[in-house]
Amino acid sequence: MARRERYRRSVNLVVPDPALVLLIGPSGSGKSTFAAAHFGPTEILSSDWMRSMVADDAADQDASTEAFRVLAIFANGRLKRRLTTVIDATNLRGANRKKFRQVAARYGVPTVAILFDFALSTYASHNAGRADRVVESDVVADQASRMRDAVATVPLEGYTRIHVFHDPGEVAVVSVVRS
Ligand SMILES: Nc1ncnc2c1ncn2[C@@H]1O[C@H](COP(=O)(O)OP(=O)(O)OP(=O)(O)O)[C@@H](O)[C@H]1O
Ligand SMILES: [Mg+2]
Repeated sequence: MARRERYRRSVNLVVPDPALVLLIGPSGSGKSTFAAAHFGPTEILSSDWMRSMVADDAADQDASTEAFRVLAIFANGRLKRRLTTVIDATNLRGANRKKFRQVAARYGVPTVAILFDFALSTYASHNAGRADRVVESDVVADQASRMRDAVATVPLEGYTRIHVFHDPGEVAVVSVVRS
């Protein structure tokens, strides 16, 4: 079957309800676009939004520590109430992923990892076309390298479900099904 034809078919991505959903991918992989298309605004905890709230600037990397502290508080508050919570950050560090999984485990909430595993050139071309902010190419290259590690280690981390996108065309045809 031709590649293009295969992607035209809708694919179901099953997400337990509630769930902790970790979006994993470099800048430009389409995490925020995917989150906005499939989840409600209050379900999405984004590192950009948290940076905006603590620094008035979504791109202020100096605010990251404070932003992630606040994000963790929000995540804990939602998961304690067993509400589906999507973490819209690169989530490329195993230690950070582990902290989120531990919060979900504390409240018995299933975990879902969604990986955006594309070529570096795809992340770069997405970033080149974006209107919201510029991400340096060396930063994205470093993230792409860490993404390769994440693709290898995430299956060993014990998620309830894992979904890997290998091509941006797959993202366009996916349907999120809450179970
Ligand atoms: N599947 C896709 N196909 C084509 N373009 C896409 C796709 N997903 C996202 N884009 C475009 O790529 C750009 C970056 O997308 P998005 O902001 O969702 O990335 P991100 O992973 O959230 O990045 P960051 O980590 O920097 O926040 C946007 O301009 C968006 O419109
Ligand atoms: Mg984003």
